Amino acid sequence: MSGRRLIYFDNAATTQKPRQVIEAVRRFYEEHNANVHRGLHTLSQEASELYEEAHEILAKFIGASGMEEVAFLAGTTDALNAVADGWACRNLGPDDRIVTTVLEHHSNMLPWRRAAQRTGAELVYVDVTEDGLLRWDQLENAINERTRLVAITGMSNVTGQIVDVAEVAKLAHEVDAVLVVDGAQAVPHMPVNVRQAGIDFLAFSGHKMLGPTWIGVLYGRRDLLERMAPPRVGGGMIRDVTLDEAEWADLPWRLEAGTPHIAGAAGFAEAAKYLMDLGMEAVREHEKRLTELALRLIEDSLPEEVEIYGPRDVEERGGIVTFNVRGLDPHMTASLLDAFGIAVRSGLHCAHPLHRRIGAAEGTVRASFYVYNTEEEVRTFVDALVEIAETAK
Ligand SMILES: Cc1ncc(COP(=O)(O)O)c(C=O)c1O
Repeated sequence: MSGRRLIYFDNAATTQKPRQVIEAVRRFYEEHNANVHRGLHTLSQEASELYEEAHEILAKFIGASGMEEVAFLAGTTDALNAVADGWACRNLGPDDRIVTTVLEHHSNMLPWRRAAQRTGAELVYVDVTEDGLLRWDQLENAINERTRLVAITGMSNVTGQIVDVAEVAKLAHEVDAVLVVDGAQAVPHMPVNVRQAGIDFLAFSGHKMLGPTWIGVLYGRRDLLERMAPPRVGGGMIRDVTLDEAEWADLPWRLEAGTPHIAGAAGFAEAAKYLMDLGMEAVREHEKRLTELALRLIEDSLPEEVEIYGPRDVEERGGIVTFNVRGLDPHMTASLLDAFGIAVRSGLHCAHPLHRRIGAAEGTVRASFYVYNTEEEVRTFVDALVEIAETAK
């Protein structure tokens, strides 16, 4: 890239794909391509088996009880909208409260705002500190006996802050509220076990964890999914239809109307297997090392020139380093890094309220790491930043 070896630090936006994932997609199209839902011919049987097995693999990946709790939707955004439309709009009313936070990506904010508007429920935002850290005291107060739903991220895509969702689950469950976790950033980067953590609904995307785009998971506790309206209606999700009525198919199929992204499911399952082989603890440790190194090198070499956002302690922070070079527009910084062959993201990262709250309304620059990144790449990145900061003087 730009005549140099690419350093890809835009993993919070989307990840690169291992050969195994690309091969799985190719193999599906070349060797097993047919529609699912168990046609009688051999190819359709193969495609159906592969598709069902992908659900089982993803269920295992997050510790779900079984594949009936795992629906494949288009991604995190789609899954959160499905819960808002299909569960919140059906089960909430004007006496109820939805709690979410200022830390959220728009995908875990706008669906709840719309659900509140439609049902008359009250929507409460838990604030962050000026440094962008979640106000735990406010969260505890906001979750009261009127609260029916708490929607929170497992890891901020801006500050990298990791939220202890098991603790949030305890608060939510004390008042019989349902906990919805936006796992777009947490699930690809650390062990997440829905049953251990007490998560009721979880959304995450394949493309942020080495898999294809336009496929992701909506996990839901079985009893909750049963009380949810299907996000879409049509083919493949019914047991019987008359001109007046329809009987839905079993879970999870009733949540997946239409011909699904079968090749995507094959790639997604391969990505989950790849990560399970590495071990999610190892993935987390690797990213902790890279993040600690990046934070330390930036602090040592650019103490005045660079402002870093989010928690300093890597125990509380995922593999995301968000910053601004003083005197430089974030997009300019990203363009200059691109000239070094380093891909980072600049802007508001679909989190406008959070950026305003931390005094970065013009945006930030985000370097985000994954399994294939190395310490050497982090060093090259900080060296480039030092050169760039020089030009800003
Ligand atoms: C925290 C968070 N939530 C939700 C999303 C939306 O994910 P997708 O675009 O795959 O639906 C993202 C992606 O940027 C994210 O980082």
